[in-house]
Amino acid sequence: MLSFFDKKKEDKNKEIAINPNNIPQHIAIIMDGNGRWAKARKLPRSMGHRAGVQTIEKILRECRDLGVKHLTLYAFSTENWKRPKDEVGALMNLIVEYLKNELETLHKNNVKLNIIGDISELPLFCQEEIYKACEKTKNNDKITLNVALNYGGRAEIIKALKDVIKDIENSKLNIDDINENIINKYLYTANIPDPDLIIRPSGEQRLSNFLLWQCAYSEFWYSNINWPDFKPKDLRRAIYDYQNRNRRFGGVK
Ligand code: FPP
Repeated sequence: MLSFFDKKKEDKNKEIAINPNNIPQHIAIIMDGNGRWAKARKLPRSMGHRAGVQTIEKILRECRDLGVKHLTLYAFSTENWKRPKDEVGALMNLIVEYLKNELETLHKNNVKLNIIGDISELPLFCQEEIYKACEKTKNNDKITLNVALNYGGRAEIIKALKDVIKDIENSKLNIDDINENIINKYLYTANIPDPDLIIRPSGEQRLSNFLLWQCAYSEFWYSNINWPDFKPKDLRRAIYDYQNRNRRFGGVK
């Protein structure tokens, strides 16, 4: 017989016992709160980002184990260049360090690395490591880790618009053929399903120029936990909550 406390524990576990038949195929995360996490510990902001990378490892593993097919992480936005030079530099170094340390593990775990955003503006040493990692993992198919780097939803739409116009001018595209599917093909996220679930930790409740076109019917989930403290159980809570929503895509159920 379960005691009251055991029962509570059981209920809590049940609360996040998620349905394996309704796993979001694409989860996108705005990894927010690294700076506040560091500030609360009187550490430099870069230490918050470093702690955030450890969270990435745990959340990626959990997503893979749950059967999520795409995990998209907002790592550096087109607006993040406004940050102090040393913080931008620390972020670039962290990305390279992560790829150097983790590439073999990602590959062994059948993870495909994909970048969304304009990486031609990143430092060369960063671009080189990214190309190497994407090339090595391109045939992996357990889960795709999409990292948004120098990414902005508006910049993405502007780029798509310019490419569409060029293709019309070159007679590769007919204006009357333009529809949602065609536009999708011109985005960084071509071939990636729209995110089912967008998670933002740290208490902020905004989209910050992330996946503006793609989020038309995404479910949003917010948490007050800063990203470095975000745990696999928080991910499971988000998924549990997602599974109890009624997605109608504008129709009726
Ligand atoms: C937002 O928190 C976080 C970022 C702008 C950077 C996130 C990047 C990483 C965790 C590292 C990326 C590395 C890899 C390998 C993809 P914030 O700094 O705005 O936090 P604050 O709002 O509390 O100041």
